[in-house]
Amino acid sequence: MAKARSSFICQNCGSVTNRWAGRCDACGEWNTIVEEVEGGGIASGPAALQSRRKGRIVPLVPLSGETQDAPRFASGIAELDRVTGGGFVKGSALLVGGDPGIGKSTLLMQAAAALANNGQRVIYVSGEEAVAQVRLRAQRLGLASAPVELAAETNVEDILATLKDGARPALVILDSIQTLWTDLAESAPGTVTQVRAAAQSMIKFAKGNGSAIVLVGHVTKDGQIAGPRVVEHMVDAVLYFEGEGGHAYRILRTIKNRFGATDEIGVFEMSDKGLREVANPSALFLGERNDKAPGAAVFAGMEGTRPVLVEIQALVAPSPLGTPRRAVVGWDSARLAMVLAVLEAHCGVKLGVHDIYLNVAGGYRISEPAADLAVAAALVSSLSGLALPADCVYFGEISLSGAVRPVAHSVQRVKEAEKLGFRQAVHPVSGEEPATGQMQAAFHPKSLVDLVARIVGDTGAKRGGGERKGGAQR
Ligand code: TYD
Ligand code: MG
Repeated sequence: MAKARSSFICQNCGSVTNRWAGRCDACGEWNTIVEEVEGGGIASGPAALQSRRKGRIVPLVPLSGETQDAPRFASGIAELDRVTGGGFVKGSALLVGGDPGIGKSTLLMQAAAALANNGQRVIYVSGEEAVAQVRLRAQRLGLASAPVELAAETNVEDILATLKDGARPALVILDSIQTLWTDLAESAPGTVTQVRAAAQSMIKFAKGNGSAIVLVGHVTKDGQIAGPRVVEHMVDAVLYFEGEGGHAYRILRTIKNRFGATDEIGVFEMSDKGLREVANPSALFLGERNDKAPGAAVFAGMEGTRPVLVEIQALVAPSPLGTPRRAVVGWDSARLAMVLAVLEAHCGVKLGVHDIYLNVAGGYRISEPAADLAVAAALVSSLSGLALPADCVYFGEISLSGAVRPVAHSVQRVKEAEKLGFRQAVHPVSGEEPATGQMQAAFHPKSLVDLVARIVGDTGAKRGGGERKGGAQR
């Protein structure tokens, strides 16, 4: 056998170099480059064999032709099925990522038990916890009687032999991919080479056998699935399970899905009996609301096909510092800077000497620009000390010119607000005019000035007029 050469592989992005460095040139991460033996890598093994073997002719087929709908089976957990696009797909691989302790194992144990109780063969392979620990969790969840087949194993070859023995399992859960190792690669478990080789073997099994497999992956502090970003493109779907410390709810988010939409979320609440589905997330996020306080505006947002109402809280206070503070939780701080600039430049709202704190209630994260209008309303309300109407929702995008631009799905946003008892909506006119059934009032600001005028009343309506109180003047 030829002498095994070693190469240096970044554990973050998977790029290969031939010498060690403190910082990866490709992704810029520090201390992620690890030496791995090349001879034991996956690329060199089968590829080296293939070069000696004569190629086989594979049949070429037209694009059109008989295809079956991706055959799915629902887990019975509605929030999980919504995110996967209707259930697990046979012969597919799904990666579930998330911080340690967020509840990945709990969620998958609940899904496994639900499917097993439905008569499907489900195998749960735990590489992190001993059988006793998994059993203990199942007991806590009240699922100990479910006929889930359990193993604590980390070697890929042993796992594959076990899976091929007996009837074809409908679902195989591998918790977690970072603990798996295969004889094919010589690197330590958890390294890119091992994770990639293990994932490849498991995915090959899924495609060949028609079982659905779920790989659990831990996420690094900067939000990437640890080491194996490389796994993300190998699997058919990637879900992230996220949550804020101190809040009981958890959000399951689709990052990639070859069989469905990618902007869906599933909402769960962690209780002492495991994860509980939250069918109406708006009610959850609005739960802790204080109607009378200035600086709070309700944003009618969308997550995929589902409207979500959240409260945006702003606190604007005179700053003792030369450079005022801007702190944002749950929103984009660059976007806040833009809204502040538009308020200053076009509406005469002077915020340059104020500290500004912005928070999205419940620890929720908004990524839509449609939140601009609600943020502006909350800021103006806090600065002026005037509380916004408690039964009003806001949505709309603000452009740098100060114009309020329409956003998609107005009808669904307004409908959701109506359902939760809101009676007013402030949003730009869009092509699809909402059927304002019970909405008593819809206000359509053309520009941000209109919104400011509405909040502070006509006295402050004039350009550069500032606010009634709260020290808008410098
Ligand atoms: P776990 O599923 O082990 O997380 P992960 O697999 O993502 O690392 O969840 C562990 C956390 O969930 C732990 O902090 C305890 C909490 N938990 C509950 O609050 N209630 C429960 O019923 C269970 C099983 C866990
Ligand atoms: Mg776990």
